[in-house]
Amino acid sequence: MKPSYTAGLVAALLGTTNVVAQRPVDALTPFFLQLRSSNTTFNNRYLFACNTGAATETLCHGNKLSPRSAATFTWASTYAPNTGVLIRNMELGGRSVPAPMALVFNPGTNVALSWPPPGLSTIGWDNNVMYLATYPDDRHYQDGVVPDLNVKHRSGSFYMCWMLAGNYYYTVLAWASTTPQNPTCQSVHVSRVYPAV
Ligand SMILES: *[C@@H]1O[C@H](CO)[C@@H](O)[C@H](O)[C@H]1NC(C)=O
Repeated sequence: MKPSYTAGLVAALLGTTNVVAQRPVDALTPFFLQLRSSNTTFNNRYLFACNTGAATETLCHGNKLSPRSAATFTWASTYAPNTGVLIRNMELGGRSVPAPMALVFNPGTNVALSWPPPGLSTIGWDNNVMYLATYPDDRHYQDGVVPDLNVKHRSGSFYMCWMLAGNYYYTVLAWASTTPQNPTCQSVHVSRVYPAV
């Protein structure tokens, strides 16, 4: 684990804790992420964190919630009521450390991989279906007209793709703004599912 990585996580932890104190309703209830897809290989499967290298993870799919801790997520809403940060508690050296989701691009692909921290990506929920919320949406830019940066846009779509994730090839959750060039990518929706109490 690199020192800079630790510093980023601690900063994320402190920031998130403040947010939780202000918005307890959104942030505290853990949930699972379940896939919906017309492809039966992925429909109803659950996402869980899988290792991609030393202290790095991404999201793989499985047919059950085991290990349960790797399939449990929380969401910290920031300033806007409907968008925030998807968080997973990573086990690092016997401690549970909150890791915010970030999308990361490799220039050899046009799909972004979720989660190699540090970083943050803003997500929102539409009837408990996850979407990526971004400020800029350059599909509608007009030359010289500065866009309203207070408006968040729903960007792109989620896919399950067989691709390089850290050090390994896995079938993982990925995100693309247009049609993925990777022919293995299958379209999915990611649903937030609260466990039965
Ligand atoms: C579903 O996804 C799997 C894994 O990527 C793929 O092998 C299969 O061809 C897909 N099925 C359909 C109907 O597209």
